[in-house]
Amino acid sequence: MVHADSSNFASNLSKSEAYNQVLAQAASLFEGQPNWVCNTANTASLLWHALHALPSPSKQTNWAGFYVLDPKVPNQLILGPFHGKVACQTCAFGRGVCGTAAKTATTQLVPDVEAYPGHIACDSESRSEIVVPIVKSGKVVGVIDLDCAVENGFDAEDQQHLEALAELLAHACDW
Ligand code: SME
Repeated sequence: MVHADSSNFASNLSKSEAYNQVLAQAASLFEGQPNWVCNTANTASLLWHALHALPSPSKQTNWAGFYVLDPKVPNQLILGPFHGKVACQTCAFGRGVCGTAAKTATTQLVPDVEAYPGHIACDSESRSEIVVPIVKSGKVVGVIDLDCAVENGFDAEDQQHLEALAELLAHACDW
């Protein structure tokens, strides 16, 4: 088994099985490795490949990655590791879907980005989005962000598993 094998997901998995594989692979990759850049980079790869192994709408995920606290500007997120096209570099707390998730420390499940006030369009192809805060010791340290090219790309099942992943990342990494 080489590291790239962690990104192989069978084509017949249910969404729950795919996320459970992401969580298991992530937990095993994080063992003895606390660096947040390293761990979020590998997690973006796991999420991208897991979602692309699933049927639509999951496979139409067009961005999977992270925004983290900007160490230089208070109350601002800065782009972290991701899979997908070039994205907005920063998001202020309270602005857009990411900034709202960061400010309120609550998941934002957005079935239609055009109906979300203040949505920041990094890519006009994105139609739906989910942003899950990563909270360590009561403080938001970053967010997981997934975009989908169709409406209703994500649901409560994605939310539940991504929140578990955020908790694993919160504890496993040196934020
Ligand atoms: N749409 C996000 C910005 C980040 S991109 O989706 C990668 C927002 O409104 O915060």
